[in-house]
Amino acid sequence: MTVPSKFPLASRLTLLKPSPTLQLAARARELKEQGIDILDFSGGEPDFNTPDPIREKAIQAIREGYTKYTAVGGITELKSAIIEKFQRDQNLSFVPKEIVVSCGAKHSLFQIFQALVNPGDQILLPTPAWVSYPDQILLNGGEPILIPCREEDGFRLNPDALEASITPRSKILVLNSPNNPTGAIIGKRELERIGEIVLKYGLIVISDEIYEKIVFDGNLPISLASLDKRLKESTIIVNGVSKTYAMTGWRIGYAAGPREIMNAVETIQSQTTSNPTSISQKAAAFAIESGDKYFQPMLNEYRNRRSRIVAALNDVPGVTCLNPDGAFYAFPNISGVLGRSYRGHPLLNVYELAEFFLDVARVAIVPGAPFGTDRHMRMSFAASLEVLEKGAQRIKQATGQLD
Ligand SMILES: Cc1ncc(COP(=O)(O)O)c(C=O)c1O
Repeated sequence: MTVPSKFPLASRLTLLKPSPTLQLAARARELKEQGIDILDFSGGEPDFNTPDPIREKAIQAIREGYTKYTAVGGITELKSAIIEKFQRDQNLSFVPKEIVVSCGAKHSLFQIFQALVNPGDQILLPTPAWVSYPDQILLNGGEPILIPCREEDGFRLNPDALEASITPRSKILVLNSPNNPTGAIIGKRELERIGEIVLKYGLIVISDEIYEKIVFDGNLPISLASLDKRLKESTIIVNGVSKTYAMTGWRIGYAAGPREIMNAVETIQSQTTSNPTSISQKAAAFAIESGDKYFQPMLNEYRNRRSRIVAALNDVPGVTCLNPDGAFYAFPNISGVLGRSYRGHPLLNVYELAEFFLDVARVAIVPGAPFGTDRHMRMSFAASLEVLEKGAQRIKQATGQLD
């Protein structure tokens, strides 16, 4: 018999799962608080501090009393910086009414789903995918349709697989290139085919470009919106300052797209959060205007770390790891470790393996299952080289204890 709850919660909550990355980070934190030396690679944020001149801008804004409500969808100064950035980096033209600034890209995404999704609409989601997409879609009454991207294809979306997943209820396609967790960047040829499919079936595209700048080997990501005018009219670009400028805590993200949709997004925001923080907006405008100046040293560091961590992971027996094209995650395939036993206990799935790594190796890495694969794990390389190498060593030592 189920006991009636004192506080009957809305039924939509039954659809939600707490973020598994945050859960693992919380366990790692607990262990650290007990004095245990845990190396935590579970997070999704740069380990760098926000560059000083950006922080100074915020301090100046506070001093000047820039502490009041602002326009709901963002201040003119920030919108201008975003418009210039789109022109400079992607040759895309937007006007202020086509842009809404929100409290992080996560917030932008949620409001876009709110504005577009009706009960029963199918949202096409190439996987592995960031863990928040399915829950945001479900919370807004949509049905996520997962399209597996194969490791053999470098985790890039195969246009034929996309087309095969389309039904009369398909409404939105979510693209995330570079991808969290795989780092995959969709190449131009595939993107052109995807564009044809989008137009053929009248899909709306949400293009999450938050890792746009964190790219390696000259692999420049292309926005679907920049391929042609009709695709721009079908696409909403989501981006933000969290990853590029190490500004996760400032909570500034933005979306750019067709005016009608952005109008709806702004209306939702006007009745929920109102404007994002005035002070953060000032700092974000300055950061975006700076282009790559403060970001470039961080990119050089990520590049170094990527090659070292990928090599170190490939050196662990039973583990193989592709070179990510972008973002700051290694996504090793751990098939060769699954099923092996620790002190007589077989490690049967990625969750058990994540616990084993936390308890025995004292290393927090995230199981791939919530991202859509049960044979991979995600290890952030937003950590110093020294810590990364120590982590890889611990993983190797711990797996060496398995039968
Ligand atoms: C793919 C992707 N999109 C969006 C976000 C959200 O970024 P924020 O809300 O900090 O701007 C993240 C953060 O981890 C992410 O990985």
